Amino acid sequence: MKPRLGVPSDLEAVTSAVIRTMPLDPQWDYRFPYRHQYPADHYKFTRMLFEYFLDPSFDDWLVMVAEDSLAPGDSISVVSFGVFDISYVNKRRHGPGYKPQDPVTEVENRGGKTRRDANHKHFNEFWKGQIRAYKKYFAPLGPEQMHLQILGTLPEFQRRGHASSICRWAMDHVLRKSLKDMSVMASPMGYNLYTVLGFERVGTFYIQVPGEDERLVLQAMMYKPKIWETKTTEDGDGACVML
Ligand SMILES: CC(C)(COP(=O)(O)OP(=O)(O)OC[C@H]1O[C@@H](n2cnc3c(N)ncnc32)[C@H](O)[C@@H]1OP(=O)(O)O)[C@@H](O)C(=O)NCCC(=O)NCCS
Repeated sequence: MKPRLGVPSDLEAVTSAVIRTMPLDPQWDYRFPYRHQYPADHYKFTRMLFEYFLDPSFDDWLVMVAEDSLAPGDSISVVSFGVFDISYVNKRRHGPGYKPQDPVTEVENRGGKTRRDANHKHFNEFWKGQIRAYKKYFAPLGPEQMHLQILGTLPEFQRRGHASSICRWAMDHVLRKSLKDMSVMASPMGYNLYTVLGFERVGTFYIQVPGEDERLVLQAMMYKPKIWETKTTEDGDGACVML
């Protein structure tokens, strides 16, 4: 089944899928080690973040979802989700002075700074690290790119091709919109998937609060479409061909 665009009415299903799936990614434990003690905070602020991601007016971001059922004939529901930063659209429209929408700060301003499920030092270090890594590995390519921020498939629906179908939708989008690349900071589980799909690893980076032993290891990866190639014709003129 093809993935579709997530809409505001998907909010409950997506929030619950995120809360059940993302603890398989080590960054979730790193950022939210107290989620079992404070499940209400965990739910509230995860839901709030996805409210922004799914809001059509918050258009630097979009969510793609894939649906499935456990047995034939059962009703289908959201089992896989991908959150993409597509701020290239507004950067094209408004020019280099455009200030991208920042859902993490929005959530912080609505009480996120006091959430009890998070380790705030880790949470802040994680975002600072992501920004540093983005600047180092991806920003040099300019604004014409798309970034995969979050990807997950409910454990009982994994290895059925759902995350691949969401990524393939995005890879097609990169081609259709003539973007330079799609980037991702890959988790250990994501790394195999992206490698199979043709992403290249461009660097390894670490998230670590100074003075602590605990750290996260993430791989910066990129999918670059090979759209155009210069071909030399017999008379020596260069010509572009679509691959
Ligand atoms: C990573 C994740 C999104 C993959 O979702 P999925 O829907 O199971 O992925 P797909 O079924 O499309 O996998 C396609 C291929 O990727 C590779 N792959 C996916 N998950 C893998 C795993 N856990 N181990 C090894 N290879 C894996 C396989 O080659 C697989 O093909 P195969 O099943 O025919 O062998 C899922 O494991 C997940 O939600 N993990 C927890 C959250 C996370 O780490 N997200 C990534 C953030 S960067």
